[in-house]
Amino acid sequence: MNPFEQSMKRVPNNVPKIIKSEDLHCDKCDRNYTLATFEDGSTTKVGCDCEMIALAKKQKENHFKRIQRNKANKIFSKSLVNQRTQLARLDNYLPETDNLKKALNAAYRYVEIFDKEKPFSLYLHGTYGTGKTHLAYGIAHELKEKGYTVLFMNVAQLMSLIRSSYDKKSDYNELEIKSLINDVDLMVFDDIGVSESNHSLENLFEIIEMRLGKHNIYTTNLTAAEMSRDKKWQRIFSRIIGESHRFDMNGDDYRMKGIQNDS
Ligand SMILES: Nc1ncnc2c1ncn2[C@@H]1O[C@H](COP(=O)(O)OP(=O)(O)OP(=O)(O)O)[C@@H](O)[C@H]1O
Ligand SMILES: [Mg+2]
Ligand SMILES: [Zn+2]
Repeated sequence: MNPFEQSMKRVPNNVPKIIKSEDLHCDKCDRNYTLATFEDGSTTKVGCDCEMIALAKKQKENHFKRIQRNKANKIFSKSLVNQRTQLARLDNYLPETDNLKKALNAAYRYVEIFDKEKPFSLYLHGTYGTGKTHLAYGIAHELKEKGYTVLFMNVAQLMSLIRSSYDKKSDYNELEIKSLINDVDLMVFDDIGVSESNHSLENLFEIIEMRLGKHNIYTTNLTAAEMSRDKKWQRIFSRIIGESHRFDMNGDDYRMKGIQNDS
């Protein structure tokens, strides 16, 4: 009888009895250990802690993942997005033409190869209602689920949030908003290009400038000519285009689906 079995003999009766005990060796920690099997089928190793160490490591990893996911959820919830768009996912986007299929594939690929160290931006351009916002939100949602920090901002709403932050009673201050945008792993600028006051434009320019060289997605339905309509826009636009992979998403307005046929 080995020392382990001797010590187990002193254990009170209500503890399950050992029905088998094997002397084995663990190659990982290079130690001899005893594998005891209890009458209820459970086992325990005495002399090797490798499994316990692996379990503790896994629990620690899960704990950090949970913290990261909570952080990602909290940040994502500050997004400025309408309710309908919140239902948009990559797998509920049904492309009807080749160029829209191409854009959907690019969206999946974007999620797949997302790497914090290798910044990569998308510029989704096209006519109304072709799903630019849908795809941008779909990507944002997937990456948030993976634990990345993501913000999705409708640009007009973002500008109005910044304007309202000057009000002393506001819950937000301008610097907090900007630093949040600065720090996220992915920033979505949805519907960029709608007319802005000069002051807003300065803010937008500052925000885009500080995001350069990071992961960004821009959606717009303005043409290149419209985007370059004045010097200030040209300045912003050239920076966006300079760092982005561009996808043209032209097509029928999905919002009008079914409506044309009813008349
Ligand atoms: N191919 C599609 N499959 C499923 N839903 C779609 C598709 N295209 C658009 N939609 C839906 O139609 C609505 C309009 O799409 P979305 O807002 O993404 O268009 P957009 O290209 O951003 O338009 P805009 O240029 O006006 O901003 C959304 O509710 C979106 O979920
Ligand atoms: Mg849109
Ligand atoms: Zn071991």
